[in-house]
Amino acid sequence: MAAAHLVLLLLVAGSHGFPTVAEASEAHPGYAGTDTCEGPAEVRMGIEEYGGGRIVDITHAYQPDLPAFASGEVTGPVVRLKESMANGSLYNLSELRMECHRGTHVDAPGHINQDHFAAGLDVDTLDLEVLNGPALLVDTPRNTNITAKAMESLRIPKGVRRVLFRTLNTDRKLMWKKGGDLSYVGFTEDGAQWLVDNTDIKLIGVDYLSVAAYSDLISAHVVFFRIPV
Ligand SMILES: *[C@@H]1O[C@H](CO)[C@@H](O)[C@H](O)[C@H]1NC(C)=O
Ligand SMILES: *[C@@H]1O[C@H](CO)[C@@H](O)[C@H](O)[C@H]1NC(C)=O
Ligand SMILES: *[C@@H]1O[C@H](CO)[C@@H](O)[C@H](O)[C@H]1NC(C)=O
Repeated sequence: MAAAHLVLLLLVAGSHGFPTVAEASEAHPGYAGTDTCEGPAEVRMGIEEYGGGRIVDITHAYQPDLPAFASGEVTGPVVRLKESMANGSLYNLSELRMECHRGTHVDAPGHINQDHFAAGLDVDTLDLEVLNGPALLVDTPRNTNITAKAMESLRIPKGVRRVLFRTLNTDRKLMWKKGGDLSYVGFTEDGAQWLVDNTDIKLIGVDYLSVAAYSDLISAHVVFFRIPV
């Protein structure tokens, strides 16, 4: 097994009250006019009890307007009818098409580490024990990226393994903004290094499409994925 790596989860952390996917809230405006999930109402609520804890569904609906990782870009059509009965086919057949690095996603260990990629460390190899369990939601200082100084100021206790970082991105509703915006807040290289050196965190969740600030896009990922340099 290659070097240990952190699991990077990209999502929006909702918190005020009990936000659901379809329901609007200050942190999660929801999706007007769309019922984003199929299934019975109690499932669509997006809140479940698990082992005495609370599960809040803060995933984003995959839809054409979802921002993509480039200035001004959107995801575009995700589903299309490949075969259509309306057009004379004997059946309807839909095709799904999107990049894996869209919406609420987890970075694969090989995303920015060629050795991990070559070793076949894809998302299936991630430890479910790391991915599941209680998480701490922290608000980062709004006037900075997640630097070493910002990390230090958060005073995240030792022993905490999963942290969702809510940042200026949520205030700016960047995940609801049509078109990608590269001025999002994320980890700088020194912020990533501070986290690796001083905390027990194994899972990081952030509220935009990349865990690393655009200015430190590769270097901060490299720290998290532990490429020996
Ligand atoms: C059905 O046929 C029309 C006319 O050829 C075409 O414009 C449309 O894209 C087709 N739709 C599907 C789902 O195949
Ligand atoms: C097949 O797709 C068409 C176009 O979306 C839809 O109107 C029709 O209801 C579908 N048929 C079935 C059997 O689902
Ligand atoms: C965070 O860094 C990006 C560059 O990656 C920059 O555009 C943005 O203004 C910074 N945000 C803050 C709050 O410092």
